[in-house]
Amino acid sequence: MAVMTAPIQTERVKKSRLSTVDFSNLGFGTYISDHMVVADYKNGEWQEPKIVPYAEMMMSPAILALHYGQSVFEGMKAFKNKNGQITIFRPQRHHQRFNRSLERMCMPAVSEELFINSLASLIEVDESWIPTADGSSLYIRPFMFANESRLGVKISDEYRFVILTCPVAPYFSKPVRIKVEEEYVRAAEGGTGYAKCAGNYGGAFYPTMLAQKQGFDQVFWTDAKEHKYIEESGAMNVMFVLNGKLVTPKLVSSLLDGVTRDSILTLTSSLGIETEQRRISVTELEEGLKSGTLTEAFGVGTAAVVSPIASISIQERNYQLPVAGPESFQLRAKKKLNDIRMGTEPDVHGWNYIVK
Ligand SMILES: Cc1ncc(COP(=O)(O)O)c(C=O)c1O
Repeated sequence: MAVMTAPIQTERVKKSRLSTVDFSNLGFGTYISDHMVVADYKNGEWQEPKIVPYAEMMMSPAILALHYGQSVFEGMKAFKNKNGQITIFRPQRHHQRFNRSLERMCMPAVSEELFINSLASLIEVDESWIPTADGSSLYIRPFMFANESRLGVKISDEYRFVILTCPVAPYFSKPVRIKVEEEYVRAAEGGTGYAKCAGNYGGAFYPTMLAQKQGFDQVFWTDAKEHKYIEESGAMNVMFVLNGKLVTPKLVSSLLDGVTRDSILTLTSSLGIETEQRRISVTELEEGLKSGTLTEAFGVGTAAVVSPIASISIQERNYQLPVAGPESFQLRAKKKLNDIRMGTEPDVHGWNYIVK
């Protein structure tokens, strides 16, 4: 899909920081690109966005986001594909989720024009920051926070929308060790789990840190009511190959509707596997691990892409999963997704938004 972008007022850096980037050791989120988008919401309307040099921002310590948590973000990726095009993966779908998150947090919507034009213009300005090594990409972080200064508990009347980008390598460098979390909760039905709001992540840190101290990388969150059903993991949705079918937890209000999850589910028919979106109990998972009918487990997300799971621990019983070979569903799905993004496989679903 090609687009025209309206010009955005741009102030360029005097000297780029690109030469300070170690592209052989990018990590995730270490280097922030030269420019950022900033747009303010005041007096009930959005002001014109601007592209400015990435820099610190002056802010009152009384801004409402810091006290009451009105802060929402998105995460997506841009690529330089094999045909020399610069593309963003499914920005419209990320924009729709951004607005769902904003609505849940009583924050004003951002128009598709503001979201996508700003993104595309920023990526064009910082196009030299897009890494080209296999598996790397330019991560894009649009976010919005309440910046009215006032200490009373209230919905803010003022907001700031910002977009940062950073060149990244894959998030997990090796298969992930999982603990099924049956004490702490990430989100409850009716809460904010389906929104990408900052507090969901802050609240997840403590149980995840405890699991990491026990030698795990991540937890599988279970439902808040009974700790009986698997929900998701860290910044990933989870998928299993169970009895030869691709099974993934169905979406409920405590779960994030992942763009990668949706993309992989869409690709399943061409990958020749039946799918089930349904509740998966911890008991069913454990039986599958014991009997060997659960042959694959993996996480899917923008940052994690497709991340194999090495082991799953349930109430201190640790189960190893077979190493995923080239014929595994997860590696075939990962390759197909990558080929679509890189332009070596036709983009029949119109997922690549062509910036240039
Ligand atoms: C909690 C959570 N679940 C799932 C995902 C995967 O979503 P997506 O594929 O849109 O990145 C993310 C990442 O955004 C996340 O933060």
